Amino acid sequence: MFNLFRCAAGIAIGAALFLATGAGFARGAQLQSDDELRSAVNSAFQKTQAITGGKNADYIPALAKVDPHIFGVALVTVDGRVFTAGDIRSEVSIQSISKVFTLALVLQQRGSKIVEDNIGVDATGQAFNSIVAIEQHKGLEQNPLVNPGAITTTSMVQGTKGNTRPAIWNTILSWYSDFAARPLKINAEVFKSESDTNQRNQAIGYLMYAYGFIKAEPLRATDVYTEQCSVAVNAKDLATMAGTLANAGKNPVTGKQVMKPANVPEVLAVMATAGLYDDSGKWLYHTGLPAKSGVGGGIIAVSPGKFGIAVISPPLDDAGNSVRAQKAIADISNALGGNPYAPRR
Ligand code: DON
Repeated sequence: MFNLFRCAAGIAIGAALFLATGAGFARGAQLQSDDELRSAVNSAFQKTQAITGGKNADYIPALAKVDPHIFGVALVTVDGRVFTAGDIRSEVSIQSISKVFTLALVLQQRGSKIVEDNIGVDATGQAFNSIVAIEQHKGLEQNPLVNPGAITTTSMVQGTKGNTRPAIWNTILSWYSDFAARPLKINAEVFKSESDTNQRNQAIGYLMYAYGFIKAEPLRATDVYTEQCSVAVNAKDLATMAGTLANAGKNPVTGKQVMKPANVPEVLAVMATAGLYDDSGKWLYHTGLPAKSGVGGGIIAVSPGKFGIAVISPPLDDAGNSVRAQKAIADISNALGGNPYAPRR
């Protein structure tokens, strides 16, 4: 009787251990507990709150008017847990972060080869809106994250219901919304403000047309590109979008497979190469994370197989990257072992 009881207790303990390990495994072998994740997000938020450097972008007049004190932090794990700190209600325009998701769309619709051949995947070593960079290689050797490559990428999108401008726009917006796990909208004031002042991007679109990489209607391509940059997002939206990339293209919140897993490494490679423009090398050196900034003040970063992080804080440094967002993301990732290049012990 006593032995029978001991045996039953042993089985119960064994089963409990098995279930605990099983649960840990299902959650992803390297993923931390809720407490660890929450504490990394909260402590990065507290530590970086005091940072005051940088300045809102003002070459797009509407961006100069955005509240520079907006500060939101969010992390979304590949198993769908969401942790946030600060202001996650305020929305800013997505700006260049949109380029990542239009690239993902064109890779899915048109394949990897045409992206490499028609746009390029190398760093230009020049500013994101450089015309010299276009001239240097006669439109070749750009990448989808600098404006010449991004406007070309947008020109290559195929509408799911035809190729009219509205059909193309709906395709882009619903694609972004699938990554964000909610229907996104544009900020009409930002769209108008940038449309009124985007003559340089129009020139870039025309040059890429002159060199044969944009096949038709360069002004329409620049206009759609400008609209995609005006999509309004909060920190949680951006972290969900990044979390989808971390989770092999499957949105961890909705469970929808948004993009083909095979294209995710290509998107992340371009982010690692050129996501923070001239500071991409420094960023990668310190964090190892593929990331993308926008002049609206957002930055997303991806720890593949683990989590996506996003921070919004509008003041930017000279390279056009949010000062606080860089620091907060690096802090969170370092606390959680997010660097994919770091040896696992
Ligand atoms: O084309 C532009 O200038 C803006 N719509 C986007 C630039 C941007 O976000 C650069 N990123 N840091």
